[in-house]
Amino acid sequence: RSAGIIGAPFSRGQPRVGVDRGPDVIRAAGLVHRLHEQGCAVKDYGNLTFEEVVVDEPVGAVKCVRAVGSANQRLSEAVQNVKRDGHTSVLLGGDHSLAIGSIHGHSAAVGDLSVVWVDAHADINTPLTSPTGNIHGQPMSYLLHELQSKIPVLPNFTWIKPCVSAKDLVYIGLRDVDPEEHYILKLLGVKVFSMSAVDQLGVARVMEETCDYLSARVKKPIHLSFDIDAIDPSITPATGTPVVGGLTYREGVYITEHLCQTGLLSAVDMVEVNPLRGQTEQEVQSTVHTAVDLLLGCFGRRREGNHSSDYI
Ligand code: ARG
Ligand code: MN
Ligand code: MN
Ligand code: MN
Repeated sequence: RSAGIIGAPFSRGQPRVGVDRGPDVIRAAGLVHRLHEQGCAVKDYGNLTFEEVVVDEPVGAVKCVRAVGSANQRLSEAVQNVKRDGHTSVLLGGDHSLAIGSIHGHSAAVGDLSVVWVDAHADINTPLTSPTGNIHGQPMSYLLHELQSKIPVLPNFTWIKPCVSAKDLVYIGLRDVDPEEHYILKLLGVKVFSMSAVDQLGVARVMEETCDYLSARVKKPIHLSFDIDAIDPSITPATGTPVVGGLTYREGVYITEHLCQTGLLSAVDMVEVNPLRGQTEQEVQSTVHTAVDLLLGCFGRRREGNHSSDYI
C-alpha cells in the first residue's frame, strides 16, 4: 500500500479562521515520517493553491459558494491524479466542504464507491435546509443521486456530478443532526450508527455491521471521510464545531484499523483540524496527534505491534 497526500488549506466552507492550517500542522506532527516507519510508501503532492474569489456574495443563504465550488473542482482533479498514480488518496483539510471534491474525484477515477462518514454531524443539509449557510454542513447533499432534485443551480458548482447512492453510505458517530437532516436520513433510509448505537453495540459490532452492510452486494472501494469532531472534544478540542459525547480515541483508532483490514480503503479525508481553536498548545497537540494516529491506522498500524516481513 502507498499513500498519496494532498494538502487543502481551505476554510471557506465555514466561518472560523485556522482550519486552513490543518495540512501543515498534521505534516509537522510527522505524518510522512511515521508512515514510512511503518513500511508505507508515501508521495506528498504538497498543498493545493486556490484561486482567490473576490466577489462571493451569498446565494440564497449559502455562503462562499464560488470559492467552495472552485476549490473543490481543483481538489477533484488532484484526487483523480493521485488515484491514477495508484495511491490511496489522503486529503488533509481544511473544512469538510472539501469532501465534495475528494469524493467526486475518487469516484471519477475508480467508479462506484462506498462512503463511511465518521462525524458528529451528518453534513447532509441542502442549500435550502441549511440553518447556517455553511457549506461544510452540506457536502453529502451535492454527492447523493437521490437528492439531486433538491439542489438548485449554484455558481461554480455545475461541474459536480452526483456519484454516491444512499445505500452505499454509512454514518458513524452522529450526535448533532439538524431536524431537516434527520428527515432526509430517514426518507432515504441511510444507514446510521449514531453515538447511541455505538453505546449500545460497541464499536466492534458497529464496524462488523458497517462492512457487512457495504459489501452485501458488490465490494466497492471505500472512501473514509473522517471529521476530527467525531472524536470527543476532551481529546480533540481544536476543531470548529465540537460536540460533547463523542468517540473515544480507542474507538476512533479501531474504526481505522478495521477499515484498513478490509483491503478496500481507497481514499481518506482528515478534516476540520483547526489549531487556532485549541485553548492551549496541549489541546492543539492532542488534536493533531489523534489525527495522525487515525491516519496511521488507515495504513496498517496495529496497536499489538507491527514488523516488516524481512525479519523472518
Ligand atoms: N449542521 C450544522 C450546519 O449545517 C453544523 C455542521 C458542522 N459540520 C462540520 N463539518 N463540522 O451548519
Ligand atoms: Mn525514525
Ligand atoms: Mn462535524
Ligand atoms: Mn463534518
